[in-house]
Amino acid sequence: MIEVENISKSFGALDVLEDVSIEVRDGEKLAIIGRSGSGKSVLMKHFVGLLQPDSGHVYVDGEDLCCAPYEQVRHLRMRFGVLFQGGALFDSKTTFGNIAFPLRYFSSMTEDEIEARVQECLDLVRLSEVGDKNPSELSGGMRKRVALARAIAMEPQYILYDEPTSGLDPETSNTINDLINHLAKELNVTSVVITHDMHSVLEVADRVAFLHGNDLEWVGTVEEIHECTNPHLNSFVKASEYTIDEASATASLSGSSV
Ligand SMILES: Nc1ncnc2c1ncn2[C@@H]1O[C@H](COP(=O)(O)OP(=O)(O)OP(=O)(O)O)[C@@H](O)[C@H]1O
Ligand SMILES: [Mg+2]
Repeated sequence: MIEVENISKSFGALDVLEDVSIEVRDGEKLAIIGRSGSGKSVLMKHFVGLLQPDSGHVYVDGEDLCCAPYEQVRHLRMRFGVLFQGGALFDSKTTFGNIAFPLRYFSSMTEDEIEARVQECLDLVRLSEVGDKNPSELSGGMRKRVALARAIAMEPQYILYDEPTSGLDPETSNTINDLINHLAKELNVTSVVITHDMHSVLEVADRVAFLHGNDLEWVGTVEEIHECTNPHLNSFVKASEYTIDEASATASLSGSSV
């Protein structure tokens, strides 16, 4: 479980997060939504210790990320796979080299074991044939999937997805959403999905947290969104072309009541 307790974060005069608390429960898929610049990526970076809060705490499986010595933080980070906004692939490495990188850096696997694991990850993201290609030779959707293959290479307990479907066509977005669901179910990972994409929220999320004005203004289930009275969330949802009809259709298809 990840527990974020009362964290605040500013960059100079810019207050981004103020007294934010949220928990990510084991096995759940939590979506974090909010306008561009609302602090979603900043919040996510705190989950994995890539940013330190000015005040407050982040606990991963009960261990305080904010006070732990570097070696402990490094070990905690190994429980995470992160799909960064934009992919963050190394252009100088092949697809194989990108996915092998964390295995070479963090594990004691032999080259043969690494090769087998990279192929397994490529198969999982349905890109079995692209190991020797450079990122520049891949489409945007393929690059996201390679970044996802790299994020899962170390068999993480938690996967953090920062805008996994942004810039992708609906069909490729659906492939990514299916993969998120597949990884959560098959590998039993806990997932945090940061997104603007309400369709993606409907497809993957168990719970949704809405970031607005430096704080999490609303947290609830997907089904609860359309009953919500928070005007900021309602206008965000409306602007995302999400309709109650779509929510109802999705919920009735999955057998839940709305
Ligand atoms: N390292 C940093 N130094 C200074 N300011 C930063 C830093 N990282 C983020 N910010 C600022 O914090 C604010 C929130 O940024 P963040 O990247 O979390 O937004 P976001 O909600 O993820 O937006 P988007 O949906 O566009 O990705 C922005 O104003 C950004 O400029
Ligand atoms: Mg962001």
